[in-house]
Amino acid sequence: MTESTRKAAIGTVIDNDAIKRRFGRLTIQLAGEAARRFSHVTPGQFAQIRLSEAALPQPDRIPDNIADSARRQILLRRPFSFCDVTVESPTEVHIGILYCVLGPATLRMTTLASGNQISIIGPLGNGFSVPAGKKLALLVAGGMGAPPLQHLARVLKSNFAEVEVVAFAGAKTLGDLPFTEQGLDKKGSAIAEFAGFCAQSHVATDDGSAGFRGFVTDCVRRWFRKNKPAAAEVIIYSCGPEPMLAETAKLAGERGIDCQVSMERMMACGIGLCQSCAVACKSGWGKTEYKLCCKDGPVFDSKDVVFLQK
Ligand SMILES: Cc1cc2nc3c(=O)[nH]c(=O)nc-3n(C[C@H](O)[C@H](O)[C@H](O)COP(=O)(O)OP(=O)(O)OC[C@H]3O[C@@H](n4cnc5c(N)ncnc54)[C@H](O)[C@@H]3O)c2cc1C
Ligand code: FES
Repeated sequence: MTESTRKAAIGTVIDNDAIKRRFGRLTIQLAGEAARRFSHVTPGQFAQIRLSEAALPQPDRIPDNIADSARRQILLRRPFSFCDVTVESPTEVHIGILYCVLGPATLRMTTLASGNQISIIGPLGNGFSVPAGKKLALLVAGGMGAPPLQHLARVLKSNFAEVEVVAFAGAKTLGDLPFTEQGLDKKGSAIAEFAGFCAQSHVATDDGSAGFRGFVTDCVRRWFRKNKPAAAEVIIYSCGPEPMLAETAKLAGERGIDCQVSMERMMACGIGLCQSCAVACKSGWGKTEYKLCCKDGPVFDSKDVVFLQK
């Protein structure tokens, strides 16, 4: 991270589209020096966004489950990954943020409108990388783990033509998938948001309301029963809840396949100062050392992580 990535940039909101209940997609335009900085985002990196000045929605638009916390003051910036980064020109970049309304900050995000200005620090952290010799990338997303993998799918398609991409996205129910329902194929088993960039995409829901019934990791295991790629040529990229990441790491380990996971932690500063985002990692001699999710991650080699929630 350089000094300049810690400097807040002011972006301008171009669009804020509701995808469906609880989910939206924000497009922010960055110009000048900020555009230059954000034109080099690696998928999996993130930005710290200030939402304290965004307005609260009308009371009838505040979900009951966050009615009490909605008015809380928002002191800290919030971390968001990028679902898309488009370089329009050397001095204009558009970044896409796919968000889910969970609490006061993401609730305020829904009121941002075209022309609003927004303060962003980034790009921060370390994103996904593509080791030499890989010919197949499996993307495994759980719930709101989808955005950085959508960005990764685009980058693989444009910069790594030799790598075939297969995407898996899971959630508890169809309503919890952060995609438009119109974008799912008739059986609800393929995703338009990934389709243009992947050879195949697969949906899994715990209750079977779309695609495969069961955990997304079971959908991946089923795929491996039908497909036998050479382990050394495959890499798995995963983002989502920690138990899902732990299971993905396990199924990759069983097959000797490289796997990178994007970890999520509560982040106060996002730049390595507050120590609030520790990730337990293996060090030599069976010991554990703590790394910082914001600075050393959020993407880690799955073999290095000691998963806390399995
Ligand atoms: C690297 C990174 C990338 C992220 N990318 C996205 C993204 O692309 N889209 C998106 O919608 N969200 C993303 N998030 C999560 C997002 O930062 C939180 O949803 C947001 O901060 C919630 O703020 P809030 O005030 O609305 O809710 P809060 O009231 O702060 O939180 C609501 C609930 O979510 C839990 N929560 C909040 N933040 C986290 C966290 N970081 N880890 C685990 N649990 C958390 C809280 O414990 C609480 O239960 C990302 C988080 C990280 C660390
Ligand atoms: S969020 Fe402050 S050190 Fe990581």
